[in-house]
Order: sequence, then structure tokens, then C-alpha cells
Amino acid sequence: MDNIQSLRGMKDIKEKEGELFNYFIVNASKIASRYGFGYLETPILEETALFKRSVGESSDIVGKEMYQFIDKGENDVCLRPEGTAGVVRMFIQNKLDRAGGTRKYFYYGPMFRYERPQKGRLREFHQFGCESFGEASVYEDANIILMICEILQSVGIGYKLLINSLGCKECMPPYKENLVAHLENLHLCEDCDRRIGTNPIRVLDCKNESCKKELQNAPKITDNLCVECDADFIKLKKILDENGVAYEVDTNLVRGLDYYTKTAFEFVSNEIGSQSAIAGGGRYDRLTEFLGGRATPAVGFAIGIERLLELIKVKEESEEIVYIGAMCEEAIDKVFSLVANKRKISKVVTDYKVRGFTKHIENSKKQNATVIALIGDKELTDGTVWVKNSQTNEEIIIPIGEF
Ligand code: HAM
Repeated sequence: MDNIQSLRGMKDIKEKEGELFNYFIVNASKIASRYGFGYLETPILEETALFKRSVGESSDIVGKEMYQFIDKGENDVCLRPEGTAGVVRMFIQNKLDRAGGTRKYFYYGPMFRYERPQKGRLREFHQFGCESFGEASVYEDANIILMICEILQSVGIGYKLLINSLGCKECMPPYKENLVAHLENLHLCEDCDRRIGTNPIRVLDCKNESCKKELQNAPKITDNLCVECDADFIKLKKILDENGVAYEVDTNLVRGLDYYTKTAFEFVSNEIGSQSAIAGGGRYDRLTEFLGGRATPAVGFAIGIERLLELIKVKEESEEIVYIGAMCEEAIDKVFSLVANKRKISKVVTDYKVRGFTKHIENSKKQNATVIALIGDKELTDGTVWVKNSQTNEEIIIPIGEF
């Protein structure tokens, strides 16, 4: 009988990758807390209608990629393809849209998209995301961008930031009309032709070379923004300039989810192959109202953790690693209690095997111990422990209570 394998596009995050994953989450969570975001968990399974209404029926995610099924209670449900919709559902369900003020959440966890798997593109992947509600000021957009820069820098990742404005309900509809009139005269791929009727701005980010050429003279949204959106976009660029954040304006950056208004951005890396987006986000001022809540400005982002794993550089912190070993059978009980106590303040490595002095020293080196503590017959009788600092080579024998 063949052994059961994991599903295509789904992987185990283990060993070294597991450590890097955890290292990233710890760093990113600390930074998000400093920026005033609180931890949030929402369910992985939600009603399908939630994503249809928020991410959009015309998006690839909803159109082709949902893990959707009817559960035993005849509910149409799906595994979340992204995190924002669930957070907005939670926000409305708990009447937080009526509470006023600002609310900020961060989350991380698995997302599911039935895409064609390739390097950097999985069917189950993990995101670290933040959502900020109640702040209409473009300073919050800048704040979010600064936070992502800080998170990526904290784990040694280089990136390029692309920004765009997708306008609002005033300026986007006339722009779309204008764009459709232009697109109808071009020779585009089948996908693009279909999108002209469903979501014309998605045509702008077609990766097909011949479409790219055709689109060279397409009208740009940034030339068609209303006074308010234009002023916000100028202000955002000014804040980024003044705070030393390098960026490129990419007027073809439209994002694959339909809920964005005004600011949209992506962080890309040229070190990870064709799936180069490591983070994406933007403003979604209409989504809360669209899902039945009170109109609430909002902005957020998500980072794709798997795409970062091979880029993360761990900052070595000089951590104390204590090795504790028994040199006789009777000492194992003492070693166990000592380990239990020492672990409250330090990383401790040990096992429950009796070894001679030299074997313990060899073993402690393999585990990069900075402090070695051994107990044998003599130490048991005297109530002491032999301790060596492996960095200074200093050796001492001290009462066990003082270790
Ligand atoms: P997104 O751009 O669809 O945005 O996803 C964010 C990030 O998730 C991407 O930049 C990428 O790194 C990662 N990602 C997406 N699909 C895959 C995949 N199949 N395999 C591996 N990694 C992937 C969102 O999901 C929005 N909810 C972000 C947001 C939050 N906007 C506002 N708030």
C-alpha cells in the first residue's frame, strides 16, 4: 500500500523552515503591537458569500480558486482565501462599526487558493496581516507602509515598494468607462477580452507580453483621479519621501481583489523567482458598508510568509544555552529538577542519559552550549554542581542551590 502524501500545493513547514517561520511571526507580532495592533483570530471556514461579496465575483480568487463545499448542514462554505473579509465580518458582527474610534488588528494563519502550484505559489499558504479601521487619513496608509518596511527589515529582507491609487466611487467609474472605450480597440488575449466586460482594470496587469505592448498608451488612473484622491496620493508620496521610504509608482498595479479604493501597494522581491510579490495591501474604505456595516474607512496588508522563508536572515542574539548532564544514574533526578528550574530563565539542553565527563563535554559542544553543568557521585554527596563557562573556560564548583 502506498504511503499517504500531503496534497499538491500544500507543504509541511518543518525543521529549519519551522524555526524561520516562528522567528518571523515573533518579530512581526512585536512590531505590530508597537504600532498599536492587537492579536485577532477569525475562523478559517466562512460562508462562501462573504468572499463573493468582498473579494469580488469577477476576481480569479472567487471565480477559480476557492476551496468551496456544502457542509453537512447544507451550508455553502469555503476555506478562507485571504484574511481581510473575515476581519471585516467580525468587525460588523460585533457592532464595532457602531462603536466609533479606531480599531487595529493583526493576525496570521493559513489561507487557501486552488491555484496551479509552482515555486512560491501554494494552495495552502500563510499570511501575516494587519487591518486598521476608522482612520481615513492618508497618514495611516503611510504608517502601514512604514510598518511593513520595518517588519521586512527586521528579518533582513530586501524589497521594492510599488504604489498606486485606485481612486474612489467618484473617479473610478468614469475612468473605467474611458478605459473600456480604449481597450475595445486593442488586440488583447482571451482573458483580457473577458475582463473588459467583468473588471476592466484587471486588464492593466496582464502579464502577457503582447498585451503589455498593446496597453502602452492606455489611460492611467492616476491622471484621472478626483481632487480628493489626487490630493491624498500626492500627500502619501510626500510623506514617504520625507520619511526616507523609496517607492515606484506603478499605474498598472490594480491588485487581484476588488475591494480596494485609493491607495494600493505591493512589496516585491527580485530574489524569489516569478512569484515576486511578498506583501500587498491598500485602502478599502467601502468594504464595511458593502458587507452591511456602517461606512468605516480601513486600510491593511498581508505578507506571504512562505515566500519570505528563503530570504529571512536571523539576527544571532547571544543567547545563553545551558547544558546540564548526569555522570551517574543517581544524579538523573537532580539533573531533572535543575533543568526544570533553569529553563524558567535560559534555554537548556539535556537528556536523561548517564555519560562520562569527556562525552558530556563533546556533547555540549555539538549543542553550542555556553554553560556546562555536570553532576556526578562527588557532587551528589557534597550537594554541589560542577560548572564551566565555555566562552571564558572558567570552571567552578558551587552549591547546587546557587546554580
Ligand atoms: P494578496 O495580495 O492576495 O492580498 O496576498 C498577500 C500576499 O500573500 C501576497 O503578496 C503573497 O506574498 C501571498 N500569497 C498570495 N497567494 C499566494 C499563494 N498562492 N502562495 C503563496 N503565497 C501567496 C490579500 O490577501 C489581502 N487580504 C491583503 C490585504 C489586507 N489588503 C488589505 N488588508
